[in-house]
Formats: sequence, structure tokens, C-alpha cells
Amino acid sequence: MIEVTVNGKRQSLDVPADTPILWVLRDTLKLTGTRFGCGLAMCGACTVHLNGSPIRSCMTPISQAEGKQITTIEAMENDPVGQAVQEAWMDEAVAQCGYCQGGQVMSAVSLLKNNPSPSDEQIDNGMSGNICRCGTYPRIRKAIKRASRKGSAAIDESLFTEVKA
Ligand code: FES
Ligand code: FES
Repeated sequence: MIEVTVNGKRQSLDVPADTPILWVLRDTLKLTGTRFGCGLAMCGACTVHLNGSPIRSCMTPISQAEGKQITTIEAMENDPVGQAVQEAWMDEAVAQCGYCQGGQVMSAVSLLKNNPSPSDEQIDNGMSGNICRCGTYPRIRKAIKRASRKGSAAIDESLFTEVKA
């Protein structure tokens, strides 16, 4: 058994240790918001947080999450920064086909938690691992700026919460 916490809930998983986290999320736990894109850690569609840091779940075995916290796009509605980012995404109508967007949001949340007021260059660098075939990059940048402006109080609160935890 592999013990992990997923979106705040403890899970005992009877899966091979080398199973990619993405398959555990989608097939075992039925959390299908995290997407399979390339399967090669090249596109970012499968981005989740492991102990708060973004990872490519398609290439990360579940054994690396033993005793750790996995956070997925499904938990963003309960995360102050996740809420700010998702609201900004809606306000800027970022999504086109939508396939990459869960991963984009997870990377944006991580970026803003580490840097609540990123410059354009810092946004481009922070988001460079997330590919969008629909080319929504200009709207992604605008949405991150909007979330940064509107969500600074929430971001501070979230950081404080993480430090306490
Ligand atoms: S599916 Fe994981 S990086 Fe593309
Ligand atoms: S919105 Fe279609 S791939 Fe990004």
C-alpha cells in the first residue's frame, strides 16, 4: 500500500509503485480534471502540485508521493489563490478548446504563490513548461496579471496558511 494525501484526503493505494501519478488520479481516484497530453513531461497538461510544487504527473511515479500531499485542479475552488486565478481565467475568457487549461491554472497558481506580482518575463518563464495548441498565451498572461491585482489579499492569506501548515 502507498499512503498519500490527495486534495486533503488520506488515500491508501494498492497500485504498483511505478504507476504514474496521472493514472492513479484519473483511473483509481476518478479525478479526471488532470489531463494526459504528451506523456513525456513536455506539455504540462498533467500538472499537479506535490507538496505545493508543480510536477508533471505523467512521468512521476506514485512512489515519489508516498507520505506527501498531491493537489489537483479539483481542489482549486477551495484555494484562495486558485479561486483568484480561476475567476481571472473566466474574466479574460482564456480557454479555447480547454484541454491544456487545468495544467495552465495549476502552474499559474504555483507561480503566484511564489511571486504574487510577477513581471511579464517572470510569467513567461514560469509558464514556459505549459504548451497551449490553441495559442491562448496572451490571455493567460493577462489573466495572471488580473489575478495578481485582484487576489493579492487572498494570496497573502494563502501563503500564511501554508506556512502554518
Ligand atoms: S502529459 Fe504530462 S507533460 Fe504532457
Ligand atoms: S486551450 Fe486548447 S490547447 Fe490550450
